[in-house]
Amino acid sequence: MKVGFIGAGHIGKALAKKFVNAGYPVIISNSRGVESLQALVKELGELASAGTTEDAANADLVVLAVMWDQIAGALEKVKKQLAGKIVIDATNNMNSGADDQPTSIVISEQIPEAKVVKAFNTLMAATLDADPAVGNGKRVIFFSGDHQDAKETVGEIIAKLGFAGVDLGGLKQASPITEFAKPLSGLNLIML
Ligand SMILES: NC(=O)c1ccc[n+]([C@@H]2O[C@H](COP(=O)([O-])OP(=O)(O)OC[C@H]3O[C@@H](n4cnc5c(N)ncnc54)[C@H](OP(=O)(O)O)[C@@H]3O)[C@@H](O)[C@H]2O)c1
Repeated sequence: MKVGFIGAGHIGKALAKKFVNAGYPVIISNSRGVESLQALVKELGELASAGTTEDAANADLVVLAVMWDQIAGALEKVKKQLAGKIVIDATNNMNSGADDQPTSIVISEQIPEAKVVKAFNTLMAATLDADPAVGNGKRVIFFSGDHQDAKETVGEIIAKLGFAGVDLGGLKQASPITEFAKPLSGLNLIML
């Protein structure tokens, strides 16, 4: 399974490393183009390559890791390509207000034919980058989604990456506790 990254900043880089370490080929993209990603590709090793956003969206599964105000621009050209695919949404809206729609719902509405699974958005990038094995335990990753098959696949991936996945149910169900500044945001939990 080839994994495409739309966004190769703090979160994209930390996650791409985890996927490569688990044996997944990755293709990373950003807004500045392939040349700007060469150092990161070298650091990630031979399972990694760089491409355009469209190239990343052609992968089997796609991780979305751009800032909130960059999402519409990043998804604009790749909506059709993402139809039927699992999109792991690691984003947060750091300007969110109490009345806002859940971030994952906003994204699902932009790519309605994709299977959006919210995951990897509650840990700080530096924590996500660290070893998921801690003592006798594993670092917890919360995930949620409205497509059971997609959620099962992402749950298996989370386990392969070395984390302990905790399924919080549907997107609307999980949002009030997993969004930025909500109770689980930033919590670095270890499952024994
Ligand atoms: N940082 C954290 O600790 C943390 C924790 C949890 C969740 N999050 C969430 O994760 C998301 C990413 O955060 P981050 O800290 O990784 O941000 P970041 O370091 O600013 O990285 C954003 C990435 O998105 C890329 N990008 C922008 N527009 C794009 C486009 N049109 N196509 C493809 N790539 C594009 C940027 O590329 P260029 O550099 O070339 O513009 C950059 O690689 C945000 O929604 C954030 O809220 C962050």
